[in-house]
Formats: sequence, C-alpha cells, structure tokens
Amino acid sequence: MKKFLVLSMAIAGMMITGVGHATHASEGVADKGAEKAAVCSSCHGADGNGMADNPLYPKLADQVPGYIMAQLKAFKDGSRQDPIMAGMVAALSEEDMAHLDAYYSSLPVMNIGIKKEDEEQALAGQKIYRGGYSKLNISACMSCHGPSGEGIPIQYPRVSGQNAAYTEKQLHAFKDGTRKHPMMNSIAFLLSNEQIKQLSLYTQGLK
Ligand code: HEC
Ligand code: HEC
Repeated sequence: MKKFLVLSMAIAGMMITGVGHATHASEGVADKGAEKAAVCSSCHGADGNGMADNPLYPKLADQVPGYIMAQLKAFKDGSRQDPIMAGMVAALSEEDMAHLDAYYSSLPVMNIGIKKEDEEQALAGQKIYRGGYSKLNISACMSCHGPSGEGIPIQYPRVSGQNAAYTEKQLHAFKDGTRKHPMMNSIAFLLSNEQIKQLSLYTQGLK
C-alpha cells in the first residue's frame, strides 16, 4: 500500500527524489551483477556511464530497477532488435538479468551536461518535456518520466543524463516503429525531427 502511494504520488508529478533508490535490490544481488557486468563494461563503461567516445552506447547507471531486466528480455525474445545486444543476451539466464539489473540500478549516474551552443535548443525541448505539445496532443514527457527525468520504477525509464545521440536514435526508432511500445510509438510518431533533437539535448543536461 505504501509503495502504491509513493508511486501514484510520483505519477502525479510531485518532486520525490530517491523513489528509485527505495526499491533498489539488496547489495548481495548487485555484487553478483558486478561480476557478470565485466563483459558489458567495454561498451557501457566500468561505472555504467557509457563511453565518452561512443554516445550510441547508452548509460545504464541509476536506471530504474526492473527496466534493464525488461530490456534484456526484449533483446532476447527479439521484441527489441539490436544486432549487438542480441549477441550479448544470448547466453544470459533470467537470474543473470536480475543480477545485472540490480547492479546497474545501484550505480550513480554521471551527468555531463550540454554544450553552451546547444542551450537554446534544449530550452525548446524543455517546453515539450514539461508542458507537452497541445497542438498535436502530445502529453508532457514528465508525466511518465518524472519532472527531473529520473523515471518511475519499474516501467518508466530514466531519461535524464542519457547521451543525446542515443536518446535521439531511440525517439526515431519509436517514431518509425522499429522499436515497439504502444505509449512511446504514438507519442514519438507526432514529434518532428527538430523536436526530437531538442528533447534529446534537453534530457542529456537534465538533472
Ligand atoms: C559491443 C558493445 C556492447 C556490449 C559489450 C554490451 N552492450 Fe548493451 N548496448 C549496446 C548498444 C549499442 C545499445 C543500444 C541499442 C539500441 O540502439 O537500441 C545497448 C543497449 C543496452 C540496453 C538498453 C538500455 C536502455 O536504456 O534501453 C541494456 C539494458 C544493455 N545494453 C545492457 C547490456 C548488458 C547487461 C551487457 C553485458 C551482458 C551489454 N549491454 C553489453 C552495446 C553493447
Ligand atoms: C504515457 C507515458 C509516457 C510518456 C508521456 C512519455 N513516455 Fe517515454 N517511455 C515510456 C515508457 C513506458 C518507456 C519504456 C519503453 C520500453 O519499455 O521499451 C519509454 C521510453 C522512452 C525512451 C527510451 C529510453 C531508453 O533508455 O531507451 C525515451 C528516450 C523516452 N521514452 C522519451 C520520452 C520523451 C522525450 C517523451 C515526451 C515527448 C516521453 N518519453 C513521453 C512512457 C512514456
């Protein structure tokens, strides 16, 4: 009941920090995940914050508990397609996935901000993120991803601090239907390429 209350308050858009941390799995499980993550670190970074020289490798650190597990399963059953990740999950059991999920969601995310010259575009992105885009009936991103982009476990991922190039690629994939999700497909379908760019820059700098 308490959990439900916290969740519905977060959905109502209230500033509750640490909701994600409250449900982080126990440290023992995260430790097992740390061992299994060795193979992942060449792309997702030793600290889960990706690689500075390849922004298409997403950050996994401080992702909402449950989301990484769900994505690994989706890569494995083919409902989310990526040639690299398909190979990476082939040998993972559900238990491995749960351990990896616990590990990455326990790590702090590093926010590198955005370049000065991108600030104007990010500001345009902020308007949509917070207020939606009523002309096209697009709902505010923050109603599902949280006012500071921290996400809401287990379904709504963190988007703040994520590399803009990766976010941009995902929004295009939702828009053209190559990545499938009923909520995100209908939202991204209505976004212009320019709005996608603006939102991606905004969320990278969002804390
Ligand atoms: C050779 C590079 C590489 C390795 C190694 C790798 N990944 Fe990935 N991973 C990627 C790329 C690229 C993507 C983005 C796929 C896309 O664009 O949809 C990704 C995406 C993901 C996502 C989805 C993130 C999100 O925000 O939706 C998860 C979860 C993930 N990887 C976990 C892992 C785990 C766990 C391992 C180790 C078992 C691993 N990856 C190893 C390259 C890699
Ligand atoms: C009605 C709820 C809802 C709204 C509103 C919403 N999202 Fe999402 N979003 C989701 C869900 C659920 C997922 C997870 C999809 C999955 O499991 O594959 C998601 C996934 C994403 C991802 C992929 C994250 C990753 O790590 O791969 C991005 C980026 C994203 N949303 C951005 C946005 C932006 C930008 C907006 C506003 C224009 C927005 N979302 C509005 C529910 C929502």
